[in-house]
Amino acid sequence: METVATIAAVRERVRAWHKAGHRVAFVPTMGNLHAGHVSLIEAARRHGDRFVASIFVNPMQFGPNEDFAHYPRTPTDDERMLAAAGCDLMFMPTVAEIYPNGPERATRVEVPGLSRILDGEVRPGHFEGVATIVTKLFHIVEPDIAVFGEKDFQQLTIIRRMVADLCMPVQIIAAPTVREADGFAKSSRNQYLNAQERALAPRIYQSLQAGAQRLRAGDCDYASIERAGFKELEAAGFRVDYYAVRQAADLGSPGPAGGLVVLVAVRLRNTRLIDNIRIERS
Ligand code: PAJ
Repeated sequence: METVATIAAVRERVRAWHKAGHRVAFVPTMGNLHAGHVSLIEAARRHGDRFVASIFVNPMQFGPNEDFAHYPRTPTDDERMLAAAGCDLMFMPTVAEIYPNGPERATRVEVPGLSRILDGEVRPGHFEGVATIVTKLFHIVEPDIAVFGEKDFQQLTIIRRMVADLCMPVQIIAAPTVREADGFAKSSRNQYLNAQERALAPRIYQSLQAGAQRLRAGDCDYASIERAGFKELEAAGFRVDYYAVRQAADLGSPGPAGGLVVLVAVRLRNTRLIDNIRIERS
């Protein structure tokens, strides 16, 4: 695996691959890689034949009181994990390479509606930052395929909409959420938890499973399911931002048909954790 830091170097490598007829699959990340990220590379390997991963902690998607400065950065371990997973090229740019005029003055990409609900309501500007960096990375890497985790379900939905709206020639692949043995979804932020908080964490997925069980049994009292999930998590000691039953296709209010998703965001002290579960419905 080769590691590069400049836009010019990525373009040169990928254009040579395209010229040779390869299909290039791309996995954007913020680093501090874990098994969830590695599973995205594995998914990429099923769809492409050259693999690029980016590691960039994107300042534009962090709010003023969020953890940009303290976000865990582990480039040496990340490089080793990507190489072991079969990645060909790791792109690790500086902030100045990506935002030469600073992130505040850069052109932005906004996906209306979807960016303002759920996490977007709690984290204003977050999804604008995500849509902007993913657009830039797509223009830099020019991949045929890009892989995103279902762990960040709203992010995945926004990227799909953005790609469709802006006619980006990139196929988006979704990869299932990788969990710890007790069901807790893997995340770079999990290491912020102390032992007591970690012991509480599996309750998040348990609450989603309880909601999903009611929905699978045909319960259509969505408001009651949302209230039950919210109350259960608050009683366990979380501060709940939302526990929401939505239409999986567009995160709209659930109707009588089509797949559903239950999404949850909670806080434990200063750590924000999100998770979701999908329910198939014909
Ligand atoms: P990051 O949090 O590093 O996540 C990178 C990718 O890994 C995302 O697609 C995310 O959904 C996926 N991922 C994280 N945890 C996962 C898990 N437990 N199972 C499966 N996939 C998982 O998401 C971002 O970075 C950024 O917003 C980014 C898209 C890179 C733009 O800056």
